[in-house]
Amino acid sequence: MGPESFKWLQLLVFSFFYTYVNCSSVEKKIYIELTNTVPCVRLLNATHQIGCQSSISGDTGVLHVLETDADLEWILSTGPHPPYMVLMESALFTRPTMMKMKNTSRVAGVAVIHTSTAPDKGFSPHTSCPNQNMGVYREQYGPELANCNQTVWNPLGNDLSYEDFTFPIFSLKDDNQTQIIHKCFEQHNARVNGSAPQYPLCAMQLFSHMHAVTDTVTCMRRTDLQNSFSVNPEKLCDPLGDYNVWASIRPLNDSQKGHKENESVVIAATRLDGRSFFWDIAPSAEGTVSGIVTLLAAAQALYPVTKEAQPPRNIIFTFFQGEAFDYIGSSRMVYDMEKEKFVIDLDNVHSMMEIGQVGLRSGQNLWVHTDPVSRKNTTVDDVVKTLVSSITSVASSLNLTLKEPDTSQALPPSSFQRFLRSRPIPGLVLADHQSSFNNRYYESLYDTAAYMNVNYPPDLTPEQQLEYETEAAKSLSEVATVVARSLYKQAGGDDRYLNNITADTKTVAKLLYGFLIMSNNSWFSSLLPPEALGRGSILESSPPQYYVGLRLDNSVKTITSFVQFILANMTGTVTNLNQSQCQNPKSVPGESKDLYFYTWVSGPVSANGTTEPYCVRAPVRRVKALSPAFDLLDYGSTEYSTWTESRWKTIRARIFLVASPELEMMTLVVGVAVLLVSLLVTYFVSSKAELLFSSTREAPNTTY
Ligand SMILES: *[C@@H]1O[C@H](CO)[C@@H](O)[C@H](O)[C@H]1NC(C)=O
Ligand SMILES: *[C@@H]1O[C@H](CO)[C@@H](O)[C@H](O)[C@H]1NC(C)=O
Ligand SMILES: *[C@@H]1O[C@H](CO)[C@@H](O)[C@H](O)[C@H]1NC(C)=O
Ligand SMILES: *[C@@H]1O[C@H](CO)[C@@H](O)[C@H](O)[C@H]1NC(C)=O
Ligand SMILES: *[C@@H]1O[C@H](CO)[C@@H](O)[C@H](O)[C@H]1NC(C)=O
Ligand SMILES: *[C@@H]1O[C@H](CO)[C@@H](O)[C@H](O)[C@H]1NC(C)=O
Ligand SMILES: *[C@@H]1O[C@H](CO)[C@@H](O)[C@H](O)[C@H]1NC(C)=O
Ligand SMILES: *[C@@H]1O[C@H](CO)[C@@H](O)[C@H](O)[C@H]1NC(C)=O
Repeated sequence: MGPESFKWLQLLVFSFFYTYVNCSSVEKKIYIELTNTVPCVRLLNATHQIGCQSSISGDTGVLHVLETDADLEWILSTGPHPPYMVLMESALFTRPTMMKMKNTSRVAGVAVIHTSTAPDKGFSPHTSCPNQNMGVYREQYGPELANCNQTVWNPLGNDLSYEDFTFPIFSLKDDNQTQIIHKCFEQHNARVNGSAPQYPLCAMQLFSHMHAVTDTVTCMRRTDLQNSFSVNPEKLCDPLGDYNVWASIRPLNDSQKGHKENESVVIAATRLDGRSFFWDIAPSAEGTVSGIVTLLAAAQALYPVTKEAQPPRNIIFTFFQGEAFDYIGSSRMVYDMEKEKFVIDLDNVHSMMEIGQVGLRSGQNLWVHTDPVSRKNTTVDDVVKTLVSSITSVASSLNLTLKEPDTSQALPPSSFQRFLRSRPIPGLVLADHQSSFNNRYYESLYDTAAYMNVNYPPDLTPEQQLEYETEAAKSLSEVATVVARSLYKQAGGDDRYLNNITADTKTVAKLLYGFLIMSNNSWFSSLLPPEALGRGSILESSPPQYYVGLRLDNSVKTITSFVQFILANMTGTVTNLNQSQCQNPKSVPGESKDLYFYTWVSGPVSANGTTEPYCVRAPVRRVKALSPAFDLLDYGSTEYSTWTESRWKTIRARIFLVASPELEMMTLVVGVAVLLVSLLVTYFVSSKAELLFSSTREAPNTTY
């Protein structure tokens, strides 16, 4: 290679390298990626799509901070630089504001800064009549009670979570990045004495494009079509679902499905999930956690006594997943019972007791709700009356006031409704509200530990907080005692043993801490298998989120695992099996996977920092909680939940400065000019390549 041509090559390589390096550093300077964002995503049912999405290349708008009515006016009509990307604090995230933005083309998207101060007047983006279409009340069953005709359960519900927005909406965590966004706005976009700001302006871009459109029927049909024609099918949406968890006081042979002779079973139920407007944020403290904690504590209180003095009937504790989305878990269990795919069938069910929202604050009563329609049948009514009177007598022996609302009132939204939809089973639903919910933040971001009064004195270490008995823990453990004792009576147990059944306040306190404050605590980790700790641990320095999500690749929702392992601790026995026997107990006489779930758990950390894992045998099971509509391929079902979640590729948010359209045009012109010049140069170089890069090629000297 001649020295001339080498120089040329160097120059070319250098200039390429230079532009490349410069570009990337320029990009870094201009764009600020926002971390800690959670989008609102698209969900679909048989007939509708709800949620939000951006266009495929993201939606961009000039940033405007919404604080006053004047700002809203500016965004919706007077501001000269539409479309706007609206930044607001969560207190301003209301239905009237959002609907005004929905009905204009001047809004490119919304970013909501999540502040923890909840609005005093309450806020619920959910519907006012939750699970309206999939409950028991309808044309054929108590039509006068259908559609919340007589009791509106969630009067604060404003339906925002069920709107279909054509622009992206993100939740931002309130941290130093929101300061940067505010600064960017103040410096570039703030109006000076009412006149429009000048370019360059601060802009925000949100990416949350959703693959699925219209409804579940359309989306699943397209997915099925793709599946049959393509080698690499791409899914557009997935059904919501996960697992239900249950445990019985007497083990039931899991390999033998369908009716069990001589089994009469009392079902004690609660739900495992909740939701909010944004995808994976659902603190659901009063809405869901209050029920989970109460039922777990009741199970723990009940077990020792049932070993000592077994009641004639069996008791099954069940935790239903996906109930917020038209009763996915309970409708699945009822379906499986009907189709002989569950360990018992509906004939085995004696009665039911469900724990609803019981975030009891001081001075509140507990209310026991029943179904007026099935009680018209005297056989059913007699059983219900006994149940009500026994729970009332149990409560009166403790410090709790328990009352029955007007018996013509419908049941609140509850899993029990799905059982009633199948047959008139006697049952109760316990809650802290007489008619409409006490919970002012139902299915919202604000239904948190603070709202449930789970507060700690300052200066406690995490370990001390874990053990600290808050007021909430005290009142919930009373509720758990009432539940446990009346379940024992409901199962035909002897009254003499009732006083031995008392829920442990310390346990309730630890459950509340783990479910509402931080799952990474010494107690939770001692109950989990060693492989669930360490790297990729399911324990977090935050509480679990309760949105049901998807059941992909047999992965299990974190909350479902927690409940399963805690229930195993509360209902199980410690065995002396070693690790391999624990995994395969068949070889050990007297052990059977038909009756029990075996799990190798970490155990507590001892003083010298080591743990001694051991094997627990417990009558705990996990069963699929997927709507039967997807097994039946009936995507337009009006009987079963049809909720799916759209797939997406990118969820991203960033801010940057935009130049005026004129300047951008100028940049474009210059860019095109540069491109033309470089094309010319390239042409020149390549046409003269012979000359420039001529080299004397030596004939190959092949030697063998
Ligand atoms: C689907 O959801 C929409 C929006 O909440 C609701 O109006 C509609 O009734 C639902 N469809 C079915 C079949 O439940
Ligand atoms: C924000 O705060 C975190 C920790 O408090 C820090 O690591 C990070 O560098 C900060 N980011 C900016 C952009 O200041
Ligand atoms: C805004 O207006 C006030 C009074 O009209 C004036 O004193 C002030 O200098 C103006 N500020 C700017 C930045 O123009
Ligand atoms: C459970 O039921 C299956 C099927 O009926 C039977 O083969 C098995 O022996 C039973 N297991 C136990 C422990 O009874
Ligand atoms: C009442 O319910 C019981 C049990 O479900 C049933 O056997 C009976 O026929 C019902 N009675 C009437 C009058 O419907
Ligand atoms: C959980 O807490 C322990 C001890 O406090 C800590 O070492 C570990 O890193 C934490 N794990 C997670 C996933 O936060
Ligand atoms: C449950 O956990 C406690 C510690 O919190 C432990 O003492 C007990 O042995 C465990 N029981 C079972 C059955 O795992
Ligand atoms: C740690 O203490 C336990 C008893 O608390 C003991 O069995 C074990 O051998 C000790 N381990 C070590 C490494 O000292």
